[in-house]
Amino acid sequence: MRRASGGVRHTSRLSNAPRTPHVAAVPRESTLAFSGFTSLIRLTMSAAIEVHELVKTFKRRAQPEVRAVDGLSFEVQRGAIFGLLGPNGAGKTTTIRILTTLAQPTSGRASIMGHDVARHPLEVRKRIGVVIQESAAELFLSVRDNLLTFARFYGVSGPAARQRAEGIMEEFGLAPEASRKAQDLSGGFRRRVQVAKMFMVDTPVMFLDEFSTGMDPILKRAVMERLRQEARKGRTIVLTTQIISEAEELCDEILIVNAGKQIARGDLNALKLLSAGVYELSLTFDKLPAGIEAELAARHPIRLHISGNTVEVALKEEEENVLRLVHELGQRGHVLRVEVSGASLEDIFVELTQRARGGSAE
Ligand SMILES: Nc1ncnc2c1ncn2[C@@H]1O[C@H](COP(=O)(O)OP(=O)(O)OP(=O)(O)O)[C@@H](O)[C@H]1O
Ligand SMILES: [Mg+2]
Repeated sequence: MRRASGGVRHTSRLSNAPRTPHVAAVPRESTLAFSGFTSLIRLTMSAAIEVHELVKTFKRRAQPEVRAVDGLSFEVQRGAIFGLLGPNGAGKTTTIRILTTLAQPTSGRASIMGHDVARHPLEVRKRIGVVIQESAAELFLSVRDNLLTFARFYGVSGPAARQRAEGIMEEFGLAPEASRKAQDLSGGFRRRVQVAKMFMVDTPVMFLDEFSTGMDPILKRAVMERLRQEARKGRTIVLTTQIISEAEELCDEILIVNAGKQIARGDLNALKLLSAGVYELSLTFDKLPAGIEAELAARHPIRLHISGNTVEVALKEEEENVLRLVHELGQRGHVLRVEVSGASLEDIFVELTQRARGGSAE
């Protein structure tokens, strides 16, 4: 099924054979030259996270095994915000579970701040904070005690921790709820508690699986700003999200996965280059011309969304064809507003995910 809006079913004609675009980030390295031309010593500051050929399979009775993670390799540099994107079931949570020592890899390896996740899980755990996908606040503890207990696990306690907790509760709008048990809070507030805990400690690496689920937009903004601050301080952040604009706004680097495999990786600009030739068209008519939805669907758009009198369509087309289309649509009715722009990350995501599936959008 298509995941994009608009309810139009179609098949993509972009490519029949799956391709694997790969725009890897250049690792940050410092290179020093010694004694003339002959000796070159390369000093590489190790990345915060290193993942090599990671595989995780799940056995299922009387069915083929699931390759939830299927040979992923990537690095995350210190102080970077790294986004793991992909459709439902792509393997994002499984990857995070392995990196946070909650699951063992079937093969391959991964390390956090130089410590192997399978061989030295305790060393890894000391260095990470995790917000898992399901809400997991300690239900019988008050909001304040949730924060303090979490900090104590990491050796942060006493007046400094209490003071920090008060500040964070203020920041997260939790101060009025400080003494209430987590179980008595609404789902969104429980999520706040869970995310707020991350800011009680200064672990060098943080993982957030769909952190914004259930958060209202105001809090979400505040958390995003806070994450940026933490990254500026040098904390490394790995997050997954289904809200692509969040990744677009936050992430220094994005890895798009599908069926456990990398389908693209790079910063936003690099990913946009992968989808050169994708255009977004938005037209508002005074009255929606009859049959326009079917007509546009016949062009096999990456995305088609009609709301009121506004048509939004993303197409992979030659520029001149796009302009011709705008002209043709202009003949069909009175156009109040027209906008043509390059691809958004959402279009790229849909296009690459479809491409990896062999061109079928069904
Ligand atoms: N414990 C498990 N046992 C069997 N299969 C599992 C298990 N955990 C995950 N899987 C399977 O592995 C695949 C990847 O799941 P995963 O939860 O990593 O996806 P995801 O990318 O996080 O998806 P979502 O966007 O829905 O959160 C799915 O096919 C899922 O059914
Ligand atoms: Mg998940």
